[in-house]
Amino acid sequence: MGASRSMTEATVGLEQQLEQALGSWVEHSDEADLDRAHDIGRTALAQDWSIPHLVAIHGRALRAVLGRMGVPIDDEHLRRGEAFLAGALSCYEMTHRGYRDAIAASRQLNDALEQAARRIARALHDEAGQVLVSVHLAVANFGRALLPEHQAGISEIQGLLAQVEQQLRRLSHELRPTVLDDLGWLPAIQFLAEGVSQRAQIEVHVRSDVGGRPSPQVETALYRTVQEALTNAARHSQASRVDIEVERDGGMLRCLISDDGVGFEPGTGRAGLGLLGMRERADAVGGRLSVVSQPGTGTRITLWLPLGE
Ligand SMILES: Nc1ncnc2c1ncn2[C@@H]1O[C@H](COP(=O)(O)OP(=O)(O)O)[C@@H](O)[C@H]1O
Ligand SMILES: [Mg+2]
Repeated sequence: MGASRSMTEATVGLEQQLEQALGSWVEHSDEADLDRAHDIGRTALAQDWSIPHLVAIHGRALRAVLGRMGVPIDDEHLRRGEAFLAGALSCYEMTHRGYRDAIAASRQLNDALEQAARRIARALHDEAGQVLVSVHLAVANFGRALLPEHQAGISEIQGLLAQVEQQLRRLSHELRPTVLDDLGWLPAIQFLAEGVSQRAQIEVHVRSDVGGRPSPQVETALYRTVQEALTNAARHSQASRVDIEVERDGGMLRCLISDDGVGFEPGTGRAGLGLLGMRERADAVGGRLSVVSQPGTGTRITLWLPLGE
């Protein structure tokens, strides 16, 4: 009830804005009115107005504007013109619906993949980890029954087991860090940054003035994007420093990941799954991604995600 009333109020508000901007445009042809038209269109899209609805509202507003100006209105011809316009635009509507469906599917797929990653990460960490503990104990017991000259072999096996354990833990963490679910994106990203910093000998700085936690989907999109950007920086950039800055930008969260490495020319060369995946993740949660790079100037990746407040 409350939701549908506020929806109607929002529609009426936007309809009035459209009528005002249209009236001003018809009478004065000010460029600023076209900017308002652009904003109104964007809001209408966000509010899920269909094209026939937009055409109908526009028709109503045009009649009101012309009426106020004392221009005689030929209603029948205006109506036919509107029907024609709605017909011409119907394929755009279909494309837009298809795009929206694709985004919804991509979102579901991401959720399913994250669930699977969570399950595998837990199995690796808990189940395989448990088996390893038993192997450790069995080897230690076995070692006690052996002669001193065989102890070096036992120690070697124990050392190798410890390595396997460490690798399993790291793999499990990279698949889906529990800290992301438990403590949120900032500690998870800080942890990630420390790991990359140690392994790749790159200075990684994380700065943020955003408190609180967005939705799990947004949090995951943020984490995965930073993860891929850091992996790319370590793999391709030869950078000595990476900066990760997360800030608030209106109702959005903006994350900037920049490195001082060799850079590359986006859109040329091999199209990688990494950059593509980042863009799809951003789209899937209503965000946006921009990649700015050039050979010799480092790489700047900016990600905007809705905070949904
Ligand atoms: N930070 C970076 N610095 C330099 N080159 C990069 C960087 N990020 C990406 N690239 C270039 O863009 C290509 C595509 O990246 P990506 O989509 O992640 O695929 P992949 O990492 O599997 O190659 C990389 O192969 C690399 O040439
Ligand atoms: Mg990559």
